[in-house]
Amino acid sequence: MLIAVLSETDAVEPRVAATPETVKKYKSLGADIVVQAGAGVRAGVPDAEFEAAGASIAKDAKSAGKDADVVLKVRRPTEAELKVIKPGALVIAIMDPYGQDAALKALAEAKVAAFSMELMPRITRAQVMDVLSSQANLAGYRAVIDATAEYGRAMPMMMTAAGTVPAARVFIMGAGVAGLQAIATARRLGAVVTATDVRPAAKEQVESLGAKFIAVEDEEFKQAETAGGYAKEMSAEYRAKQAALVASHIAKQDIVITTALIPGRPAPKLVTRDMVESMKPGSVVVDLAVERGGNCELSKPGEVAEHNGVKIVGHLNVPGRLAATASSLYAKNLYAFVETLVDKETKALAVKWDDELVKATCLTRDGAIVHSAFQPTT
Ligand code: NAI
Repeated sequence: MLIAVLSETDAVEPRVAATPETVKKYKSLGADIVVQAGAGVRAGVPDAEFEAAGASIAKDAKSAGKDADVVLKVRRPTEAELKVIKPGALVIAIMDPYGQDAALKALAEAKVAAFSMELMPRITRAQVMDVLSSQANLAGYRAVIDATAEYGRAMPMMMTAAGTVPAARVFIMGAGVAGLQAIATARRLGAVVTATDVRPAAKEQVESLGAKFIAVEDEEFKQAETAGGYAKEMSAEYRAKQAALVASHIAKQDIVITTALIPGRPAPKLVTRDMVESMKPGSVVVDLAVERGGNCELSKPGEVAEHNGVKIVGHLNVPGRLAATASSLYAKNLYAFVETLVDKETKALAVKWDDELVKATCLTRDGAIVHSAFQPTT
């Protein structure tokens, strides 16, 4: 069994899909590992460290990928990258499959078995494989660090001989994995933190971290969680009520961090131009949903925009801004999944195609799109 770790070709992607630690684990599973030269450099892992862990280094993607039974990546392979992967290989990555019909077709045509890590069910057995959580947690932390860096004032209250500095007011919109870590981080820095979410379960979690919960708590709110624990898209009426409550709150905030997502849908627009204009100059908005359409009307992907003195931070790939930590957690998520695909006795690949985790994540196989949620419509 040969496992290949390919370099990421997207300029905004510094993460890598394996670390020396996981290379050692794959070796003890009975696999040989080949790492494309330079794959780990932007995540702080030189080739020599992969070699020391037992991997061989291949000079380019073709020589790394051509004989591999399993290919590990961070992002979905492009059509050019697919050309270096043999038919029948397992390709495991964050595939970003929603609305990507052409890319899914290309995966099918390459006859690879493509697995989308972000479709992993959120059940106890798969927690260790949950890339959405491992990466969102870091994004939530980094969003607060980025906001702090852009904010021209101090976060904690300080009583000094020269006078008292007030604590910053930080409002977190969306209290999922990223939002909860943002709350915890802002609290550690001494800010006064409030948060909102449309899922009722979030209220207790927000309060347990020492932040105040702000939301319209009507009947619709009480039903607003799917069986999988995700948010539902809210009615226009609820959104209007929530927007009115949030608008008056935002006007009093120094920092707003938005993290609201609905799986498979564009991000809900939560912070309007008017709301940004109600904020004091020097305030900061960080939009973690910018790659999914954005929660703030004024955010620009990949930019720190400015509007009436308010900075709107729209960094792409925020987990990648902590590339070493993000890679080490992502690599462990991948290892935990790959381990379930290997027969420990024979040390060979033995994918159980009817396993719950395989069925939930497998997009393509034997030339076809096999996932029920992504069947072509025509
Ligand atoms: P997500 O990344 O899909 O969304 C982020 C947050 O935005 C969610 O809390 C969502 O409710 C919220 N949101 C959506 N629309 C909103 C709106 N209009 N206004 C305000 N907030 C809005 O969510 P994430 O972080 O993936 O977490 C979803 C749930 O899954 C949470 O309950 C989390 O605790 C749970 N979870 C469970 C795990 C497990 O059991 N293994 C692992 C990780 C998360």
